[in-house]
Amino acid sequence: MFQWKKTVYKSVLLSFALVVAMTVLQRGMTPTQFFQGQPAKELLSQEPVKAQKRDNVISLADNFWKKAGPLATPAQVTSKQVTSWDVTTINCTANLNFTKDDWFKGLEPNFRQFLLYRHCRYFPILINHPEKCSGDIYLLIVVKSIITQHDRREAIRRTWGQEKEVDGKKIRTLFLLGIASKEEERANYQKLLEYENHIYGDILQWDFLDSFFNLTLKEVHFLKWFHIYCDNVRYVFKGDDDVFVSPDNIVEFLQDQKEADLFAGDVLFKARPIRKKENKYYIPNALYNKSHYPPYAGGGGFVMDGPLAKKLHKVSEMLELYPIDDVFLGMCLEVLQVTPVAHAGFKTFGIVKNKNSKMNKEPCFYQNMLVVHKLLPLELLEMWDLIHSNLTCSRKLQIL
Ligand SMILES: *[C@@H]1O[C@H](CO)[C@@H](O)[C@H](O)[C@H]1NC(C)=O
Ligand SMILES: *[C@@H]1O[C@H](CO)[C@@H](O)[C@H](O)[C@H]1NC(C)=O
Ligand SMILES: *[C@@H]1O[C@H](CO)[C@@H](O)[C@H](O)[C@H]1NC(C)=O
Ligand SMILES: *[C@@H]1O[C@H](CO)[C@@H](O)[C@H](O)[C@H]1NC(C)=O
Ligand SMILES: *[C@@H]1O[C@H](CO)[C@@H](O)[C@H](O)[C@H]1NC(C)=O
Repeated sequence: MFQWKKTVYKSVLLSFALVVAMTVLQRGMTPTQFFQGQPAKELLSQEPVKAQKRDNVISLADNFWKKAGPLATPAQVTSKQVTSWDVTTINCTANLNFTKDDWFKGLEPNFRQFLLYRHCRYFPILINHPEKCSGDIYLLIVVKSIITQHDRREAIRRTWGQEKEVDGKKIRTLFLLGIASKEEERANYQKLLEYENHIYGDILQWDFLDSFFNLTLKEVHFLKWFHIYCDNVRYVFKGDDDVFVSPDNIVEFLQDQKEADLFAGDVLFKARPIRKKENKYYIPNALYNKSHYPPYAGGGGFVMDGPLAKKLHKVSEMLELYPIDDVFLGMCLEVLQVTPVAHAGFKTFGIVKNKNSKMNKEPCFYQNMLVVHKLLPLELLEMWDLIHSNLTCSRKLQIL
């Protein structure tokens, strides 16, 4: 077994090296030449973020948020006239309005940092692929990733992220990234990422730090990007880079959907904000003082229809950013009065709780799922092969 894993790992590495070598040969250049090509100077800037330049036109054609009561001042609204990414400079100063307040001083440093820059909504785009959304696309798969997780992206490309057509329905895949959060990783990994993008052409990258609290920033950047570039995308799957996904099952599920404003996933109703400081999802009262969150789908993987993604973009610009990205989307859905649909084929919570659960290893279980959290690259490759071998399952699990 161990030997077998080693072989898989070796062949993954080897095939990546081959692809690199072939591309270099095809383009008639040396890797060094390629690396020297585009130094991402702006990226490496260590300067504090300054106020952003805005030249958007405000157009509030729809007024669906009127019911929602008082909302944050509309920072800026991406109008339909915008045809390309329109944020080109970082110009955003810390908001010092509440630094003297006691509630602020009592917060943990990461929350203070979040609040100081909460109003900085959009950053320049460093790697873009407008062509990804051209033509009729049935399902756009977008995966939250970080620069150092190259092996996860590689495994996804070989498994559920493969671009293909299912019954004539086009599936396209993109990875969503910010910049390396650790300074020492920035320069070298950035070059590797640019090279990876050169080979696969499936990276979107923006000029903000990839940190946990910036995941919401990634969410709103994707929604804005989608609004600008994606007019003919029927559905969007958005998820993490450490999950198992079955695009075939997702397409099968989507084919039966007739309702507009579809948003489906592993939905939590009446989840309580976590008040224990040790927890990764801890939220102080000063940031959220209600007892429950609106219904929201786990960010590990969910699907929504394209038109709804555009509405979510508009609403997201009316709300203040919230540090937990999936809860933030739940807040946006609440404003739109759209209730997310809970579907048993999405397992983004809970599966880690029971390490011995059958779910962790059973291919017949995975075969019937849409999304399962969580699998590391080798486990994903292994599971994918098992499912696509001549698997005989004693009984069909009634999930779909
Ligand atoms: C950044 O914003 C400040 C104040 O809003 C302005 O004075 C300055 O000119 C801006 N800088 C750039 C490069 O846009
Ligand atoms: C800080 O407060 C002033 C006055 O209330 C307001 O005009 C400004 O927009 C606030 N700054 C931010 C970044 O919210
Ligand atoms: C989010 O990214 C911005 C831009 O890189 C950075 O200034 C800010 O500190 C980050 N926020 C958090 C909470 O990490
Ligand atoms: C909760 O927060 C809102 C705004 O942040 C504030 O207006 C309200 O008074 C707070 N409620 C309680 C019970 O603290
Ligand atoms: C899988 O089944 C098909 C036909 O049922 C057979 O031709 C093929 O050899 C099998 N493949 C493996 C790997 O067992």
